Amino acid sequence: MLFDRVKPLDQILATAEKRSLKRQLGAFSLMMLGIGAIIGTGIFVLTSVAAQKAGPGMMYSFVISGIVCALTALVYAEIAAMVPVAGSAYTYSYAVLGELIAWMVGWALILEYAVAASAVAVGWSGYANGFLASVGAGLPLWLTAGPWDTVVLPDGTVASGGFNLVAFIVSLLVTWLLVAGTSKSAKFTSVLVMVKILALTLFIVLAFPAVKSANFYPMLPQGWGTPLSGTGVLGAAASIFFAYVGFDAVSTASEETVNPNRNIPIGLIGSLAICTVFYLLVAYVAVGAAGAQPGGSLALAKDPLAFILRDIGHPLVARIVGSAAILALPSVVLMMIYGQTRILFTMARDGLMPKAFAKVHPRYHTPHVVTIITGVFVAFFAAMFPVGKLADISNSGTLFAFFMVALGVMVLRKTDPGRARPFRTPLVWIVGPLAMAGCVLLFFSLGWNPTIKYFCIWAVFGLLVYFLFSRKHSNLARGIDIE
Ligand code: ALA
Repeated sequence: MLFDRVKPLDQILATAEKRSLKRQLGAFSLMMLGIGAIIGTGIFVLTSVAAQKAGPGMMYSFVISGIVCALTALVYAEIAAMVPVAGSAYTYSYAVLGELIAWMVGWALILEYAVAASAVAVGWSGYANGFLASVGAGLPLWLTAGPWDTVVLPDGTVASGGFNLVAFIVSLLVTWLLVAGTSKSAKFTSVLVMVKILALTLFIVLAFPAVKSANFYPMLPQGWGTPLSGTGVLGAAASIFFAYVGFDAVSTASEETVNPNRNIPIGLIGSLAICTVFYLLVAYVAVGAAGAQPGGSLALAKDPLAFILRDIGHPLVARIVGSAAILALPSVVLMMIYGQTRILFTMARDGLMPKAFAKVHPRYHTPHVVTIITGVFVAFFAAMFPVGKLADISNSGTLFAFFMVALGVMVLRKTDPGRARPFRTPLVWIVGPLAMAGCVLLFFSLGWNPTIKYFCIWAVFGLLVYFLFSRKHSNLARGIDIE
């Protein structure tokens, strides 16, 4: 009885066909979109979190989470090309695994997108506050980090912050842009992608000569890490997974893609591949140039890439890289909030979320109600919490959703083998289970307190909402097609 509400795939596709948006994005634009959503706080900021957890062994962490993402992207591409509609993992699950699981996935995606938006905003604030301080306009320290975050006082001691003002403001500004109708402008995205790639390239080229072999020892000061501990190489891999998240944003543009069956897989896998190459180089160079021992100065830096460049005598380039981060990261916040609103919008259209979430602004033609609600939450979370904790919590939701997508793809191979599959995951019976195993490994490496604990509380809360509200209001259950 619980798992019987499945929304037929053909119904989903027919609805998408009816409402079809203008198809104008090609493979290149999609790759730009993917890279635009991927490169952000993860590489620019969490490098220090990874150093704190794993030391120089964080290089392995980048490899491990890169492999898990590559496996997931291969299965994701199959379903995204097959069901090229907005709503991503939530919609796929509705078609394959039924309403309850779809609900849980949609609920987990709130962690993936909204909490990720807060994390990116906090990461951005590290660079923005650094910049303000460097031009003599630094905010009082208590306004540079949330009460659950830390600041380093002038005497080198560590204290807790008060309210992260710039992270709060940037989240609200982005929300306002989204309400006013700014979304993914392909040209603008491409420019910002170039800015980010140039910044990472500059970092790699200039820091490479400073690599010293002594900096790689001891390689594994915290070991490989044990499940639920949240430290060691695996703990860092679970955190740095955040750096790769975003390639799934490509699938949210499915309805606007020319020849989605060919271009979606190229966009998903291509953007991830390019970012992985950059990340591995950045990780190697960061460790080699600065050392990365837990408790060291890199591990405590809030703008680690700029910090390393300053440390090795390139203050000007440090400013350039910092400015690139300041310029480009808000667009990642924008994409995350955008993704969040579209998922909540789709869930509302299905009757699972309050109808008001599907309201569209008469003048701006944007889902303003859901955008404003999301934006206010994102802003407050950004003002309160540290980037590492937010990223970990976001990862827990993403890993859950990715696990379900991999499961769904395999179930669909059995239940609907005849359906056209423009992209077939190679060796799906090996790649699929490996992707799922990778998600489980990273999930349990996140650490029980607070991440997995909060995830469990969130899941229970989600089930309550489902059984008290959504199950009764579901359009599918009431026999109403989506309007
Ligand atoms: N991967 C994105 C980032 O690192 C979410 O900011």
